Amino acid sequence: MNKLTAFNLTPDEFDKIRKLIHKKAGISMSDAKRSLVAGRLRKRLVALDLDSYEAYYQYLKKDQTGEMQRFIDLLTTNETWFFREERHFEYLTEFLQQQPKAKSLNIWSAASSSGEETYSIAMTMAETMGVTSPWNILGTDISSRILDRAKKGIYMKSKIKGLSSPMKRKYMLNGVREFEDYLAVVPELRKKIKFQPFNLITSPLPTVKFDIIFCRNVLIYFNQQHKKEVIHRLASCLKVGGYFFPGHSESLHGLYDELKAVAPSIYQKTKRSS
Ligand SMILES: C[S@@+](CC[C@H](N)C(=O)[O-])C[C@H]1O[C@@H](n2cnc3c(N)ncnc32)[C@H](O)[C@@H]1O
Repeated sequence: MNKLTAFNLTPDEFDKIRKLIHKKAGISMSDAKRSLVAGRLRKRLVALDLDSYEAYYQYLKKDQTGEMQRFIDLLTTNETWFFREERHFEYLTEFLQQQPKAKSLNIWSAASSSGEETYSIAMTMAETMGVTSPWNILGTDISSRILDRAKKGIYMKSKIKGLSSPMKRKYMLNGVREFEDYLAVVPELRKKIKFQPFNLITSPLPTVKFDIIFCRNVLIYFNQQHKKEVIHRLASCLKVGGYFFPGHSESLHGLYDELKAVAPSIYQKTKRSS
């Protein structure tokens, strides 16, 4: 048998690993995820020349080599695309059209993954407010590997999903020579965004208050308690009257009374956080 297929993740080992990812990232994993976890971590066992998942777990617990970050990178799901859940961007456009151009606006894309969501927000801002107006976006994610991709803002043409031709022409540059299969986000938009690591469960909150927070398609990985904590934490960073956008399958029902539903999967903060 080839070494790559020889490892068996026992229920015991899986249990330890899922407790660890839950502790580090808040991600809850059901029994059904055992083979997915085994598959994603197998290459680390090979790279580190370890002979079992137990040995990998012990190695991780020492965490002397940045392995914990690699572990988190491997166990997070980063699927995303441009203008995902389009209705959010239509709502954002309608809201922005009512704002004075000179109004300073802070937006947070709080699980930005590889940046498609963040750049979609930036394109929407540029379309409605202009690129030079005083708006800024913070893009954050727990995965450092995925944030590196977000910072670069370079996407393979064949893998770009959701971005219309007019938007591509306006906000993306065609790669040349070895980059001819890629498009890069224009520097004017990239300048408006700061990407940085942030763990929704444990990182200290930013001191700035936001007008809009996107936190989409990540709450589904958390248990009820963590969902509640994350929503409270993020809501405390919203200005009164500010908007919170979770993913369309992530209801906040019963989790936080001070966020009032104003449209499907769009909430507005009604009171100062206590
Ligand atoms: C499925 S992607 C969603 C991307 C984008 N928001 C969207 O809706 O298309 C989920 C992202 O959440 C990030 N994530 C998972 N747990 C996290 C945590 N505890 N703190 C911050 N980000 C986390 C993952 O790294 C991943 O990039």
